[in-house]
Amino acid sequence: MDTAYVLEATEEHMRELLSGEASGHDWYHTARVRKLARRIGAAEGADMFTVECAAMLHDISDWKLNGGDTAAGGRSAREFLERVGAPPQHVDHIASIISSMDYKGAGVEVIMPTLEGKVVFDADKLDAIGAIGIARTFAYGGAKGRPIYDPAIPPTMHATFEEYRSKQSHTINHFYEKLLLLKDRMQTPTGRTIALERHEYMQGFIDRFHAEWEGRE
Ligand code: NI
Repeated sequence: MDTAYVLEATEEHMRELLSGEASGHDWYHTARVRKLARRIGAAEGADMFTVECAAMLHDISDWKLNGGDTAAGGRSAREFLERVGAPPQHVDHIASIISSMDYKGAGVEVIMPTLEGKVVFDADKLDAIGAIGIARTFAYGGAKGRPIYDPAIPPTMHATFEEYRSKQSHTINHFYEKLLLLKDRMQTPTGRTIALERHEYMQGFIDRFHAEWEGRE
């Protein structure tokens, strides 16, 4: 198999597909996930072709953007990989990583069955926290027309995926309902170490936000 060709074709396809995406899932998100996945994958001893392909294809179709079809991602990834001639065992593995990756709400735990899946999962979630995570969260909230904060609406821990998907809230709640929980969802030791650092940074931002909101800073 010509892995360099498949990686190059994948990059080109995704760059084109995601260019101009303004809700935080643009090509640069995918490029950052790829870089993080390489770093984590190398430290954890994962198969790097699978890691890089899955990282690049992970947002090929996202339920938040495609009207709620959660099976569409794995399906599109499979179609694409078959078209560029990736070997069947890799196609199966990468498609299964992508279909099991999406966040399903605070009470719904996602466990990736393979090391490569864990690596890509961690890389994607890490791009949702830290400085980049903060920027993406407000960009996404703005795209959805959500207010930045409303103290009258407290955070809720969604018990089901349906509840998570249908709930309209403000952007600060998103930190409590998802982003501040992600450090405990990491699936590799390397991912956990990076997550802790990003978590602290984000917690500092939230503390400061509330202090400024109350006129204390
Ligand atoms: Ni993503």
